[in-house]
Amino acid sequence: QTGYQLAIIGFGTVGEGVYHAVETSSDKLTRLLGKPLHIPAVLVKDGTKKRNTGAATRIVTQLDELLREKPDIVVEATPDAETGFPYVRRLLELGITVVTANKEMVANHGEVLADLAEKNDAQLLFEGAVAGGIPLLNTLRHTLKTNEILQVNGILNGTSNYVLTKMQREGTPFQNALKEAQEKGYAEAVPDKDVDGWDASFKTAILSQWIYGQAPVWKQKEPAGIREITAEDLALSAQAGGSLKHVATLRKDRYCVTAAVRPCFLFRDHPLYAVEGVNNGVHIEGSIVGDLLLQGPGAGKGPTASAVVEDVVNVLNKTNGKVVQNPIPETSGSADELHSES
Ligand code: NDP
Ligand code: HSE
Repeated sequence: QTGYQLAIIGFGTVGEGVYHAVETSSDKLTRLLGKPLHIPAVLVKDGTKKRNTGAATRIVTQLDELLREKPDIVVEATPDAETGFPYVRRLLELGITVVTANKEMVANHGEVLADLAEKNDAQLLFEGAVAGGIPLLNTLRHTLKTNEILQVNGILNGTSNYVLTKMQREGTPFQNALKEAQEKGYAEAVPDKDVDGWDASFKTAILSQWIYGQAPVWKQKEPAGIREITAEDLALSAQAGGSLKHVATLRKDRYCVTAAVRPCFLFRDHPLYAVEGVNNGVHIEGSIVGDLLLQGPGAGKGPTASAVVEDVVNVLNKTNGKVVQNPIPETSGSADELHSES
């Protein structure tokens, strides 16, 4: 088929979300890219499960079968570093650009993979790996270039924030709230990674490399999660005029970058206090801009697919060698009205 060929590895919350977003945005994508974006193959673990895909998409279980479809670009959305790394390494060795949401893989193998990408004239993009639908990495890289980033405080795990919010606002027991987060597709395949702080620490490590080009010095041996927080703790924090939140901090001083991931008591006037439910919030202190708060859905099908698909479009536009303006649909009369006012 003429057009770009996009293959997907992993067809759970994220992979299926990307498939659906590409299908429902196909006209817009064709306009943006100058040609259609097809999905000829999806690679999964269990080839016998019924999948929600069209006839033009083959379901495969081996990377070689996926490669037979000659993908221009691959989205990787498998559960962890151990699963994703061998696929992504091979793809980058072959010079195929990868867009991934797999934060554990990027945190543990990001440097090796970035080197491989560079050596083979490919790219590795991972906006969806940190803070879900919030355009955080691209904002830091492209619109805060000149600012020195002095510190970042973030609620970076949607599941933990969802659980704490449900416990505090509705009195839902921890296990029930976590089960809801799993049913909604927010949690990791192993949800301990969410509630024990590992997921937020992978994201903090990625942010440290992204912003400062170095791993942080951790203030703790292991991240602290939310498992120990009780309904009584939450009630007391509310009485004291604040709330307990799971916060990642990244700070730069003259000598080094330090990081921590742990529950924090935040007063009502703290920028992250009002970040509730599955939302993530990222409070950035830039040397020129001052304080910024980016907030939005930190997990789930649509928000993560949004981040992944925007990376796909950015990379294909660049490969194409041109920047395609976002066209105003012909049916809209608003362009003329706007021009006549100016
Ligand atoms: P799911 O558990 O919903 O889906 C994982 C998919 O990976 C499944 O389709 C599974 O196949 C497939 N898979 C498992 N093992 C293999 C293998 N060996 N080879 C090929 N495919 C395999 O995960 P999510 O979609 O929730 O998450 C995917 C990634 O995205 C994770 O790294 C996660 O951290 C990250 N992420 C998730 C977000 C979310 O909101 N859920 C948000 C941002 C990032 P099968 O269907 O056959 O079991
Ligand atoms: N499990 C993760 C979370 C998914 O809850 O934040 C988004 O990275």
